[in-house]
Amino acid sequence: MGFSAQPNWDEQYRIGETPWDKGEAAPPLATWLRGHPGSMTGTVLVPGCGTGHDVRAIAAAEPTSKPIGLDLSPAAITACQRHPQRAAEQYCVGDLFALPETLRGTCDWVWEHTCFCAIDPNRRDEYVAAVATALKPGGQLLGIFYLDPYRGDHQPGGGPPHGCTLDELRQRFTGAGRFSVEAAEPPADCYPERAGRELLLRLSRR
Ligand SMILES: C[S@@+](CC[C@H](N)C(=O)[O-])C[C@H]1O[C@@H](n2cnc3c(N)ncnc32)[C@H](O)[C@@H]1O
Repeated sequence: MGFSAQPNWDEQYRIGETPWDKGEAAPPLATWLRGHPGSMTGTVLVPGCGTGHDVRAIAAAEPTSKPIGLDLSPAAITACQRHPQRAAEQYCVGDLFALPETLRGTCDWVWEHTCFCAIDPNRRDEYVAAVATALKPGGQLLGIFYLDPYRGDHQPGGGPPHGCTLDELRQRFTGAGRFSVEAAEPPADCYPERAGRELLLRLSRR
């Protein structure tokens, strides 16, 4: 299946066309961090971090964590770097599908939010391989997955966000034996328009 209408992400940031950027950390992440103090520690990779709201929220909530925001877009990473930074926060221009050596097998956590739904669905197995490569054995992937952004329909033009199902996620993440599912449930918090359309998934790297 072709999904040719993938955005030019950097251009979108440069011209300020970023409707996904709500100017704050994802509500399900903020709520999860409050409810699980002391959990998201060590090196935390945030793929497709955009302008870094989630990275800053993790750094603020867990002072011993080392959150690393990775994004294809130099303009997004420049925006991240304009914010006052905590010592442990890091940002990196890079492609999740060509992970820098320093991010291979070095991460305790991956926080996923609106990166999986943004990539070409034909590359989802590559996404799974990339996050598995980033994590240490026993490392955790916590993510919000957009199940049904268009209520069963597709965005005109076929661009992101692209939906998914729990069955697909289970098959992709556990199928090659890389992950086991620790939790799959509706997030405790979300944007009102996304209620019932997101899934919080916690996976352990085998
Ligand atoms: C829909 S935006 C979400 C950004 C951010 N998570 C947020 O919620 O504001 C998707 C992001 O993924 C980034 N991205 C897309 N493909 C990527 C890849 N292969 N590697 C790294 N980042 C990628 C884009 O540049 C963009 O910032």
